[in-house]
Amino acid sequence: MVQEGQPQGGEKRVCWPLRLWSVAVISILLLSTCFIVSCVVIYQFTGDKSDKRLSELYTYHSGLTCFSEGTRVTEKIWGCCPSTWKSFGSSCYFISIEQNFWTRSEQNCVEMGGHLVVINTEAEQNFIVQQLNESFSYFVGLSDPQGDGSWQWIDHTPFKKNVRFWHPNEPNFSEERCASIVFWNPGRWGWNDVFCDTNRNSICEMKKIYL
Ligand SMILES: *[C@@H]1O[C@H](CO)[C@@H](O)[C@H](O)[C@H]1NC(C)=O
Ligand SMILES: *[C@@H]1O[C@H](CO)[C@@H](O)[C@H](O)[C@H]1NC(C)=O
Repeated sequence: MVQEGQPQGGEKRVCWPLRLWSVAVISILLLSTCFIVSCVVIYQFTGDKSDKRLSELYTYHSGLTCFSEGTRVTEKIWGCCPSTWKSFGSSCYFISIEQNFWTRSEQNCVEMGGHLVVINTEAEQNFIVQQLNESFSYFVGLSDPQGDGSWQWIDHTPFKKNVRFWHPNEPNFSEERCASIVFWNPGRWGWNDVFCDTNRNSICEMKKIYL
């Protein structure tokens, strides 16, 4: 009995980690399959005119990339962005490297179904700057149309005190009535007031499309 028991015990010690590994490997395989097959889908527009927003987007975008959102199977929905846009939270972002004046940049975003970006949180600011090239500055959807320091977001989101990422000593000139994001040494992204009629890159944002 003792002789039989010892090998069994030994076996168990070997088998238990093996079983754990099997479970881990199977889980990883399942997750990978889920990721490749069912958790990301490319939605190709069919020209279906039943959804107004979809048919509008169809004019400018050839497809959507969708990620499954929601933690339970019953609440699974697809959060979609145009395939060339980046997904973050409930929005999609497009970094435009076409340099234009501020109003023209906004117009371009609108034509694509969005607006110049409105930054609501520090997390959003951090996500956006990760997408940018330090050699350029980028218009955002923030302006001071009267030149009296009453900065306003393009979608009328209140301009909150705790969500401002100006560089030190900016804004510094009332004639500079548009805001840009720029990387200045020492090693920091932040906002700067600039002339609206200067050519810059820009950042567009649109709400995700949920299918
Ligand atoms: C940033 O832009 C410069 C100038 O166009 C380019 O040489 C560089 O490769 C870009 N950097 C990145 C990370 O894309
Ligand atoms: C405002 O700041 C910019 C960038 O630091 C600087 O080039 C410019 O001379 C400043 N303008 C005024 C009026 O202080």
